[in-house]
Amino acid sequence: MKFEEIDRRYLTERKKLSEKHGQRELWSVIDHWPLYCGIGNLARFVVILDIVRKSLLIPGHVAELGSWRGANLLFMAKLLRILDANGSKQVHCFDSFEGLQTFSEKDCSAEGNRGAYLGNFEELLEMIALYELQDDIVIHKGFVGNTLPALFGSQTELSFSLVYLDMDLYEPTIEALNQFHPRLSKGGMFVLDQWNAQNYPGETVAVREFLESEGFSYRMEHVQGARQPSLILVKEQC
Ligand SMILES: C[S@@+](CC[C@H](N)C(=O)[O-])C[C@H]1O[C@@H](n2cnc3c(N)ncnc32)[C@H](O)[C@@H]1O
Repeated sequence: MKFEEIDRRYLTERKKLSEKHGQRELWSVIDHWPLYCGIGNLARFVVILDIVRKSLLIPGHVAELGSWRGANLLFMAKLLRILDANGSKQVHCFDSFEGLQTFSEKDCSAEGNRGAYLGNFEELLEMIALYELQDDIVIHKGFVGNTLPALFGSQTELSFSLVYLDMDLYEPTIEALNQFHPRLSKGGMFVLDQWNAQNYPGETVAVREFLESEGFSYRMEHVQGARQPSLILVKEQC
């Protein structure tokens, strides 16, 4: 697999460095984050910055489905604070915080990762409070098979400009694509994190099935410069 050797070497070397320099106080590491952040991880956030910038002129909120510990969620909310401080956009977070649970046969061997990405909801709320992002982030806790129909059944006004899908599995991904499709503004984007990923085939199968039904409405774009996210679907017509 591409990057396998380079990743192995990097992870071994950084483990050696953490053993050599020992434990550091959390915030002293964080305040020097560009020093420690891997290039692959940095590339991911540079790409997400570009995507959020692109979404600024498109009407509607931002959503993330699959937030886990909240790194991407808080990054996007902080970006909106910087780039659209007086605007009305919020970031809607959808997660059960129970990790990967809702497998189907379309996820193939990914089922071996059942329970991976278990969240820590209390810590997430504490971080949101630390950065005073309570008005910027709306959390919908639960499995999307329940939370999405409940939300869209009651809040008929909700519209979105950017929907970031990172749940890895077939069932929640196809559910989210179908539920958000009528709520995504023209020019709005679905962003996929595991599209074309061998270890999580269900996400790609969900996208393929969705495009077979709604294909004429979307343009597929490759994500330049990062491994993940890996696909953008731009809505061309409603
Ligand atoms: C790969 S992690 C997300 C990583 C995160 N976006 C980040 O930037 O760190 C996948 C997340 O999807 C959530 N998830 C998976 N299936 C779900 C479902 N059916 N409903 C709601 N959340 C789900 C899991 O709880 C987990 O937090």
